[in-house]
Amino acid sequence: MKQIGLFYGTYTGTTGNIAKRIAKELGEDKVAVHNICCEGDKMADYPLLIIGTSTWSVGALQEDWNNFMPKLENMNFEGKIVALFGTGDQVNYPDTFLDGMGMLYETFQFRGAKFVGFWPTKGYDFTSPLPLYNHDNFVGLALDEDNQPELTDQRIKEWCALIRPAFGLE
Ligand SMILES: Cc1cc2nc3c(=O)[nH]c(=O)nc-3n(C[C@H](O)[C@H](O)[C@H](O)COP(=O)(O)O)c2cc1C
Repeated sequence: MKQIGLFYGTYTGTTGNIAKRIAKELGEDKVAVHNICCEGDKMADYPLLIIGTSTWSVGALQEDWNNFMPKLENMNFEGKIVALFGTGDQVNYPDTFLDGMGMLYETFQFRGAKFVGFWPTKGYDFTSPLPLYNHDNFVGLALDEDNQPELTDQRIKEWCALIRPAFGLE
């Protein structure tokens, strides 16, 4: 079985597309990609997790993640390493930019996960506090396919290089 489980939630397909690009960058033989809508139960099988979501309805978690939340609240992530990524729109939703990623951070943190892959806020323009780890860093990789798609490839590349050691992929 592959060591790394990548679980994503998507509405229009954007986050699913990003999930595949991250898996390709890290090595498709290492990363198993699962849509949270239907394969969330497999999450317990992996010691290493990559978790991705979009944000909808002005600050709401993507619907399939929302539906999975009751199961998540009964899970224990002690000893598991988690890297987060989020997709959003900082121009139309600056106050709630990537709130979904922030909500997942709180949920996984409360259940013992150890996080890697904090990402600098430089180059983004938003006011939402929820996806922040500290003043200068997001809790995970921040992507804006609506307004900065030309930056996505490079961001994925750098972020994957950042998390590689923690995922045993040096
Ligand atoms: C009605 C609507 C509400 C949205 N609300 C937010 C929001 O509150 N925060 C945010 O960062 N992005 C918001 N977005 C942008 C989406 O999260 C973004 O387009 C994302 O890439 C969609 O990914 P998905 O297709 O994988 O769900 C919203 C988009 C729409 C159309």
